[in-house]
Amino acid sequence: MEMTCMSLSEAMLNRKSIRGYKPDGVPQDILRQIIGLAIQSPSASNAQPWEVAVLTGEPLEELKRISVDLWDRGVPSNPDVAPPDLFGDYVRRRKEVGKQLFQLLGIERNDYGARKEWNRKALRFFDAPVGVIICTDASLERSRTDFDLGIMTDAFCLAAMCFGLGTCIDQQAISYPDAIRQVTGLDESKRITAAVTIGYPDWDFPANKLESSREPVDTVALWRGF
Ligand SMILES: Cc1cc2nc3c(=O)[nH]c(=O)nc-3n(C[C@H](O)[C@H](O)[C@H](O)COP(=O)(O)O)c2cc1C
Repeated sequence: MEMTCMSLSEAMLNRKSIRGYKPDGVPQDILRQIIGLAIQSPSASNAQPWEVAVLTGEPLEELKRISVDLWDRGVPSNPDVAPPDLFGDYVRRRKEVGKQLFQLLGIERNDYGARKEWNRKALRFFDAPVGVIICTDASLERSRTDFDLGIMTDAFCLAAMCFGLGTCIDQQAISYPDAIRQVTGLDESKRITAAVTIGYPDWDFPANKLESSREPVDTVALWRGF
């Protein structure tokens, strides 16, 4: 398939998390090209500490089954890389995007059944045809690897757009790293850092209409000497 890429600024402005997909599979050749683009990312000392496991078909189905079953049985999640505790403005932004998401999905605040079902969908890689596990050498310090893996992961999400594909970084999908190890054959020497869902967006899926907000540049940037 031809790579038909928009401008970089267009891709950066239009990228959004995709949480509903068409069932169509993604050709391996395209995934290889996307990974090839993503690993052009910079890394400290050019150490390139990233590795990816790409799952589709039965292995992905098996992982989804195991993860959902663990969650349904109330097994506590134990991700290799846990999300940080938030406070203040960070909590406000999380609440804002969560509210937007659940409004689009028509899920009421206290509809715990629907919320649980949505959590299952996140564990199921949002039913994407392909799930990507981003990992690194567990003996490298996180302070060294998280930054580099983050850069590469964003590049992956942008590169996917050149092929009409959508993505969502899905930390819920790495809640049970031992299930990922069981299915992929990755062992304890790898730190499972992130998961990314990828596939052709179903633009009719309500959550894909979400437009998350950003703070204005002048809230973020400190200017001196201009
Ligand atoms: C490290 C990381 C983990 C994320 N984990 C999840 C997740 O578990 N579930 C989810 O729905 N979205 C997840 N997201 C997507 C964010 O919610 C999303 O990027 C943010 O709300 C901004 O929206 P946008 O990507 O559409 O611009 C994650 C994003 C990042 C960077």
